[in-house]
Amino acid sequence: MSALTTTSDGFLLHGEPFRILSGALHYFRVHPEQWGDRLRKARLMGLNTVETYVPWNLHQPDPGGPLVLDGILDLPRFLRLAGAEGLRVLLRPGPFICAEWDGGGLPAWLTADREIRPRSADPRFTGAVDRYLDLLLPPLLPHFAAAGGPVVAVQVENEYGAYGTDTAYLEHLAGALRARGVEELLFTCDQTDPAHQAAGSLPGVLATATFGSRVEESLRRLRAHRSEGPLMCAEFWIGWFDHWGGPHHVRDAADAAADLDRLLAAGASVNVYMFHGGTNFGLTSGADHHHAYTPTVTSYDYDAPLTECGDPGPKYHAFREVIARHAGVPDEPVPGPSPKLAPVEVELDRRAPLLPYAAASVPPVRGDDPLPLHALGQASGLVLYRTAVPATGAGLLHFTGGIGDRAQVFVDGGPAGVLERERHEETLPVRIARPGAVLEVLVENMGGVNYGPHIGDPKGLLGPVEFDGTVLRGWDCHALPAADPGAVPFAPADPGASAVPAFHRGTFEVAAPADAFLSLPGWSKGLAWVNGFALGRYWNRGPQRTLYVPAPVLRSGANDLVLLELHGTRAARAHLTDTPDLGPVKV
Ligand code: GLA
Repeated sequence: MSALTTTSDGFLLHGEPFRILSGALHYFRVHPEQWGDRLRKARLMGLNTVETYVPWNLHQPDPGGPLVLDGILDLPRFLRLAGAEGLRVLLRPGPFICAEWDGGGLPAWLTADREIRPRSADPRFTGAVDRYLDLLLPPLLPHFAAAGGPVVAVQVENEYGAYGTDTAYLEHLAGALRARGVEELLFTCDQTDPAHQAAGSLPGVLATATFGSRVEESLRRLRAHRSEGPLMCAEFWIGWFDHWGGPHHVRDAADAAADLDRLLAAGASVNVYMFHGGTNFGLTSGADHHHAYTPTVTSYDYDAPLTECGDPGPKYHAFREVIARHAGVPDEPVPGPSPKLAPVEVELDRRAPLLPYAAASVPPVRGDDPLPLHALGQASGLVLYRTAVPATGAGLLHFTGGIGDRAQVFVDGGPAGVLERERHEETLPVRIARPGAVLEVLVENMGGVNYGPHIGDPKGLLGPVEFDGTVLRGWDCHALPAADPGAVPFAPADPGASAVPAFHRGTFEVAAPADAFLSLPGWSKGLAWVNGFALGRYWNRGPQRTLYVPAPVLRSGANDLVLLELHGTRAARAHLTDTPDLGPVKV
């Protein structure tokens, strides 16, 4: 029996009236040593519930392997901490989660098979989902309300009405949850468009809506779809995310608070999306594809009440004030900002060029044509492709199948140009000076599309490559997972310019760990690690100009910074600052 039940216009929890005041907080976007702090701040803002997605792609990186449930993926621990804080949990296990997350959370090993129809009743898809749920649910069930835990509701799919019309698929998912012991309330969430609501909801499963404004109209549309039951905004968008090369999105705190006020005045329940956005650490960010491919930045600050580093921002105070009027808030002091590290300059004085390292350290897979990333057994990161060009002279390189997603071309070790999927680029003029010149193409997977029909698009080089109309055959393909760069053979670097992709390393001293922001003036594009922890991508295209360095990643004494700089740099220094810079704001 479900602890959370519905009445004609609201919820009961264990039989008592209950309004869900929830905030989204994705454990997988927050350093696990900071979970407790963020959950406490959720309660202190007046929330009684938190919501999290569950990213299938990280929990099950290998279809045959065990589930990963440790460190930042220790969901049982997160649920325990939420319960200890007195918070309830809305769980959104997908299997698709959207969320500006790599591939919307669908594992690349599954979507790589283009015969399988994702997010449908295709038994090859639902079979994989079932096997995942077989592994995922047993360690989670002790944290469900039926067993005395905090999880009071579970979402079926995510905004499915924006994608498909396969009701049998939704029914399969609801049944799969029930069959594995989930007794809690099930819900769907969809945009308020009547067609979305119709295609995305199921009889007997609570339908909720996602919106960020026009509160009364949105609630009316939800009510038109379901004539009775609680009104719930399952994603109340109070900010937004950013794409590389776009503006930094913010939403005025007073405006968002006024809409929260309208929602609560209407008697609705809410999940603030996001309460705390956190960070797309490592290579976890997703991408959109409307008219063109547009990858999402590393920060998931979202202009949320708690900033990326967990500080209460203007929206925290404004929302707390609204919640205080409608439901009351704890009579405890509002937390202040966390301490920040005093600015530090880091000299990157050791170097290791990437291309020779990649070619030597990763055994190649040989292909007549270049092989896509998934065929090399890898989901994210970089691939180095190498071949020899028999012809000479000036000509056009043509990547006939396109690129997923950004390719740097080198001829005999010298940079020859860059092609981007974002710009629909598939050809590059090059000059081949000698027969047998080495052509190298370094391709970066910039993140899997997480919304719409391009989910699961392949990565790497996606077909034969021609030079001057002749197909180049015989490729060495080296997949570079871009994991911990601890094994890279660094050597002392000449100070100053470097013209080729290279790892750069420096050490710096810290007296006492505190939150910091990595600033990289003079660097172009790449990845950053501190003490082996992958902070994520940086790119001078912006808008984001600093990367968040969570305090628990630092240690007292010597610390290690590694940058994989994909282009040349004239800089030999990086800076840890005390202030984030997410870029120029959209006005
Ligand atoms: C939708 C999705 C979320 C997220 C938001 C935008 O509502 O359900 O996962 O992608 O859009 O941030």
